[in-house]
Amino acid sequence: MWEDFRWGAATAAYQVEGAAGEDGRGPSIWDTFAHTPGKVLGGDTGDVAADHYHRWQEDVALMAALGLQSYRLSVSWSRVQPGGRGPLNPAGVAFYRRLLDELVAHDIAPVVTLYHWDLPQELEDAGGWPNRETAYAFAEYARLMARELGDRVALWTTLNEPWCSAFLGYASGVHAPGRTEPAAALAAAHHLNLAHGLATQAIRAELGEHTPVSAALNVHVTHPADPESAADLEAVAQINAVGNHVFLGPMLDGSYPTRLLRDTAHVTDWSFVEPGDLTTARQRMDVLGVNYYSTQLVRRYGGDGPAPRADGHGASSASPWVGADSVEFLPVAPPHTAMGWNVAPEALEELLLALDNAYPDQPLLVTENGAAYEDVVAPDGRIHDQARVAYYRDHIAAVLRAREAGVDVRGYTAWSLMDNFEWGYGYSKRFGIVRVDYETLERTPKDSALWYREVIRTGRLPG
Ligand code: NOJ
Repeated sequence: MWEDFRWGAATAAYQVEGAAGEDGRGPSIWDTFAHTPGKVLGGDTGDVAADHYHRWQEDVALMAALGLQSYRLSVSWSRVQPGGRGPLNPAGVAFYRRLLDELVAHDIAPVVTLYHWDLPQELEDAGGWPNRETAYAFAEYARLMARELGDRVALWTTLNEPWCSAFLGYASGVHAPGRTEPAAALAAAHHLNLAHGLATQAIRAELGEHTPVSAALNVHVTHPADPESAADLEAVAQINAVGNHVFLGPMLDGSYPTRLLRDTAHVTDWSFVEPGDLTTARQRMDVLGVNYYSTQLVRRYGGDGPAPRADGHGASSASPWVGADSVEFLPVAPPHTAMGWNVAPEALEELLLALDNAYPDQPLLVTENGAAYEDVVAPDGRIHDQARVAYYRDHIAAVLRAREAGVDVRGYTAWSLMDNFEWGYGYSKRFGIVRVDYETLERTPKDSALWYREVIRTGRLPG
């Protein structure tokens, strides 16, 4: 059961583990992508990352020192099942067993994400997420993980931000596998929905119907440039369909929004949706995981050619917003983080209230929230990351307000426990509350970590 409110922090396998070629781990699409020149800033790869694969004990000790009540990690599929199908890799499974045991020994509830974007390369070679078979392979992998790790896991998360997997991976191509095929992106989205449903069933078949399962979605908060303009409101509705309800619909309602089918009819006929799929995709979720960072601002575009995009997903790339070609993304007013994302804590409250309104019986969990800033190591060796402290303070306040308003939020998870490989940005962006020195791999809690420790200890915001 996942009932109480827990304070946690998160990472993901490819972003922190390193040890990419060790102990029988197979390659994933992120190994291939990062090793392809020009795909990741500075040519960075996850080969070493934060070396968490070797430093997990030190890292759990650090979590315990911060008082974390939960830790959200992901399993590298290609570490435990190198080809994505077939036999398990015992050394890979043993790593996660040790890690989970250590967490449990320190009273830190493990939240285990099964898929945080690192598809085994062999499955991509067989078609990747646009291929329905990938969903079945994922369900089998989920069943095996439930069998191997089940008794140690407090909450399962099937997928992390499937929107990014489908639309950044297969439409805009700024994420692995880097394909730019809009129809394939929609097929990928559907097979991710199916994979979520099948995996949830598989986990519960293995461990019991009561087993807590979730999915973590990056629910986009999109505002209209002119709230009085019907055309701008229409643009928001379009983005909500292809940005949010493409997953919320199947997972929570058992259907795709009709406007999504209409908006994308020129791209695909959706014949990849087979009878029964939408029933499968909709499984009880103990909590809905919400990843939140920023907002976006849109209007209906009247000009010629492609609409301008300041959407934070690589404006010069192909659009991830399949079927929404006439939606223009406008720059949003400062302040911004080092990612260029605007800081809007009140929108997190707005989002939690809106989800509660749409799904009143669905408990929520903030599975990610945090910020990248240009950190400076002071002469005393400390990192006085006051901007990050302010970001956390304001966003946690928003979560607490939503709770006071009656929204059933079951926890808050900082992204990230430590600096790590920020996908297409490599190591240039630091999201950690703990600094990682990439030369020495030494960890140093930043002021934000010390501040967060106090929040956890007292259960409230200071001051
Ligand atoms: C979402 C992703 O889940 C995570 O992997 C990423 O590092 C953060 N957001 C920051 O972009």
